Amino acid sequence: MSRLGDWRDTNELVYQPAEDSQLLLTHLRDRIDPEARLLDVGTGSGYIAAKLRDDPGATVVGVDVNPHACRQAAATGVPVVRGDLVAPFATASFDVLVCNPPYLPTTPDVARGDWMEHALNGGPSGRRVTNRLLDSAASVLRPGGRVYLLVSSLQDIDRVRDRAESNGFAVTELGRDDSFPFETLSVLELTTG
Ligand SMILES: C[S@@+](CC[C@H](N)C(=O)[O-])C[C@H]1O[C@@H](n2cnc3c(N)ncnc32)[C@H](O)[C@@H]1O
Repeated sequence: MSRLGDWRDTNELVYQPAEDSQLLLTHLRDRIDPEARLLDVGTGSGYIAAKLRDDPGATVVGVDVNPHACRQAAATGVPVVRGDLVAPFATASFDVLVCNPPYLPTTPDVARGDWMEHALNGGPSGRRVTNRLLDSAASVLRPGGRVYLLVSSLQDIDRVRDRAESNGFAVTELGRDDSFPFETLSVLELTTG
């Protein structure tokens, strides 16, 4: 079994770590200062949060809207808050935000309304949650703060970049994976001035 497979729980109410989680972690891990205060937005199983807590040893908090995800993530020992994106947190609380958001383009007629849907459904454009995060992220970041964001070609990555730039971020692509049949996944680094 792979190391990612070792981590996966059988809880079908929670998004278990997959190739997208691993891609994000791989590209951001070496960029995190051990002194950093980090928020994993939509922490799910807590996989990324716990890995960054262990190495490089950052101070990590997770947030998720799904109570089952909060329970699984909290079992890793990472402090977890149930809430909507960055809403529970005070101004300038973090140096780094990390997010693997729900990004699958989904029309209302096929929405099921269960917890796994919350993990996957990005609204008709795939950018619904991503846009809300981009519009609110700066409020909880300290000066010089950064966001590491997993994006998919299914969302139209140029539109994601435009939204980030309109919120004052400079955008750099750190890496991508073209090996999936229907999408390309990329990791973006968003930096504030
Ligand atoms: C694709 S999963 C990623 C989980 C985990 N970060 C990973 O990479 O394996 C997206 C997660 O975001 C959570 N989520 C969706 N909308 C949210 C919101 N508005 N606020 C907080 N969490 C949210 C979902 O419950 C889900 O756990």
